[in-house]
Amino acid sequence: LLSVRFRRTRRDGEPPLVNGWIPFLGKALEFRKNAHGFLAAHKEKHGDVFTVLIAGKYMTFIMNPLLYPYIIKHGKQLDFHEFSDQVAPLTFGYPPVRSGKFPGMDEHIQRSFRLLQGDNLDNLTECMMGNLMLVFQQDYMDGESEWRTESMYQFCNSVMFEATFLTMYGKPAHTNRHSGIVTLRQDFVKFDTMFPLLIARIPISLLGGTKTIRDKLINYFHPQRMSTWSNTSGFIKERAALFEQYDCMGDVDKAAHHFAILWASVGNTVPATFWAMYYLVTHPEALAVVREEIHCVLKVSGLEADHNRDVTFTREQLDSLLYLESSINESLRLSSASMNIRVAQEDFSLRLEGERSIGVRKGDIISLYPQSMHMDPEIYENPEMYKFDRYVEDGKEKTDFYKDGQKLKYYRMPFGSGSTKCPGRYFAVNEIKQFLSLLLLHFDMEVVEGQEPCSLDSSRAGLGILLPATDVQIHYRPRQA
Ligand code: HEM
Repeated sequence: LLSVRFRRTRRDGEPPLVNGWIPFLGKALEFRKNAHGFLAAHKEKHGDVFTVLIAGKYMTFIMNPLLYPYIIKHGKQLDFHEFSDQVAPLTFGYPPVRSGKFPGMDEHIQRSFRLLQGDNLDNLTECMMGNLMLVFQQDYMDGESEWRTESMYQFCNSVMFEATFLTMYGKPAHTNRHSGIVTLRQDFVKFDTMFPLLIARIPISLLGGTKTIRDKLINYFHPQRMSTWSNTSGFIKERAALFEQYDCMGDVDKAAHHFAILWASVGNTVPATFWAMYYLVTHPEALAVVREEIHCVLKVSGLEADHNRDVTFTREQLDSLLYLESSINESLRLSSASMNIRVAQEDFSLRLEGERSIGVRKGDIISLYPQSMHMDPEIYENPEMYKFDRYVEDGKEKTDFYKDGQKLKYYRMPFGSGSTKCPGRYFAVNEIKQFLSLLLLHFDMEVVEGQEPCSLDSSRAGLGILLPATDVQIHYRPRQA
């Protein structure tokens, strides 16, 4: 009976439909196990557009990147924020922004994203550099030059989490570092492990101690505590001022919003930093070229890196680091598995290229899964291989990639697309550049021999940058001045 109630049948003009044999869940388990392989197999069987029942939702996957522009540019029939405004509040514990309770808030929040971009980046970048130096110097460069051993993910996490936190939220009164940061980071990691389950709308009450940990994390951002912090970024200050305008918003709700931004700003950046570092350290030829490039940029501006520990990079200098940027983009290509989602607002016929169109029903989800594009051998030769200079050609950024002989408008999408594209993307790439520059200038490092190559943990497939399945041991030592 259940299966009759939950299954739908394909109508004329609709894409091929895959219901699966488990009512409601449909193909959820197979998808979760190996999303990339699952989609590749269905593409082989059904062509480049098909609909799959996943956990009660009908999801239409657009597998051909030449069709992406038709989805990304699509107007009001495909909504971008409906899905996130349902899922994010459940995950982070604040009331939905678009519920009607907070008139105008959604627009203001969208406007606040400009404070992560353009000229506002100068300040953020400068601040991030100071914070990275602070953490590196106090925790990892104590003057001794002997080799030490450390887990690479742990290393990236402790430096990037704290430096990003300080840059976004500021420092406590009378001191430069938050005394509770280690506990905050550990609690964050525990919460983050449960993140895929929360996004899948598993009630938090079923997830052991996750609610207690989330309450603790939220409490860290209590407005009273935050008001004692200084050097807070304009972005966070503007959001805090916005929340003050709504009397019906409680202090815990405000704090939960700030916590959500903490997740947005480090949840993907830390694993992205790990992969960028991992690929460089395991590819000495790439590391040598990138290190040389960083030294050259510093030399041109009259700074001798080895003798100047408080080195700074302007935004223009960071922009000019072509090989470093290509190496980061290449590691993002290899490690990102985000899903771009739009919700159909009505039954309608979605136009694709030429005369082609597909029938879509109200409430259906249209999905792009860029990992399939990132790993397409027609677009990227030997897609499994790390090629640090894949995005450099003739001394410039390479932007022409082809499918079926046609130049692709979208060929690398770790940050989403269209109007929901990550507003922190420029800051994210900048801070990874800063982290790697300082690392290459100030440390020698190598992977401890005898370890298996690092593989991707696909448990958060669809949600962003994948974590490594295991950590990697490295030897490092501060370089001699
Ligand atoms: C949204 C990726 C770093 C702030 C997103 C989305 C993706 C993403 C895929 C969803 C886009 C969509 O739904 O289409 C990444 C990656 C990062 C990164 C891969 C690092 C490598 C950051 C940083 C910040 C940030 C550093 C802030 C400082 C946000 C915010 C949103 C978002 C606020 C929600 C935007 C909205 O609601 O419209 N990010 N992100 N992200 N990201 Fe990032």
